Amino acid sequence: MLVRIPNVLTPAEVAHCRQRLEAADWVDGRVTAGQGSAKVKRNTQLPEEGEVATELGDLILTALEANPMFVSAALPSRVFPPLFNRYGPGDGFGAHVDNAIRQGLEAETRIRTDLSCTLFFSGPEEYDGGELAIDDTYGTHRVKLAAGDMVLYPSTSLHAVTNVTRGYRYASFFWLQSMVREDAQRTLLFDLDRAIQGLGADHPEHASVVPLTGIYHNLLRRWAEI
Ligand code: NI
Repeated sequence: MLVRIPNVLTPAEVAHCRQRLEAADWVDGRVTAGQGSAKVKRNTQLPEEGEVATELGDLILTALEANPMFVSAALPSRVFPPLFNRYGPGDGFGAHVDNAIRQGLEAETRIRTDLSCTLFFSGPEEYDGGELAIDDTYGTHRVKLAAGDMVLYPSTSLHAVTNVTRGYRYASFFWLQSMVREDAQRTLLFDLDRAIQGLGADHPEHASVVPLTGIYHNLLRRWAEI
């Protein structure tokens, strides 16, 4: 399931992050790529766990913790510290699958990558190309969102970033381990939660709200690993 989470950051937060990102020192993006990916990756990144990445990463994680749609869609167990990349003219990232396990500098940051996240810091009008192209059973989805919006997609997906031909594309990318490992089960829980929220909003006294909520929690209890 591919989920767009709108307005993860406010316009003021996006502007602050952009200022910090544009003034930062960038390094070759192949530092975090696996052997296969390194051959098809052309971009720059902020140094992992550097001052800017840490500050902006904390800002993103704080915003996500308070975002009900993110929590419902991802059911996050452990989130890898956000990383940041920049694609300029001629940059791109060929088709690849993200590594299954990510190890940060500290032992507790080792996670299984169930979901991949890309949070956009550049608006679509600022650059040409630079689409995140994600393959699933329904074909290839081309994702290019407003600044402050984020896409969540299964880390099992083959994906690429098409070449940028004009401007700069700033984004944050990271992974998370979900309490529910299987995408199909997580999708079912997300759909059920959304349906219950919709019913509860339109008909708060409806007799089915409580039993449906019970079913949601009993499925989550059956499938969650914590
Ligand atoms: Ni990737």
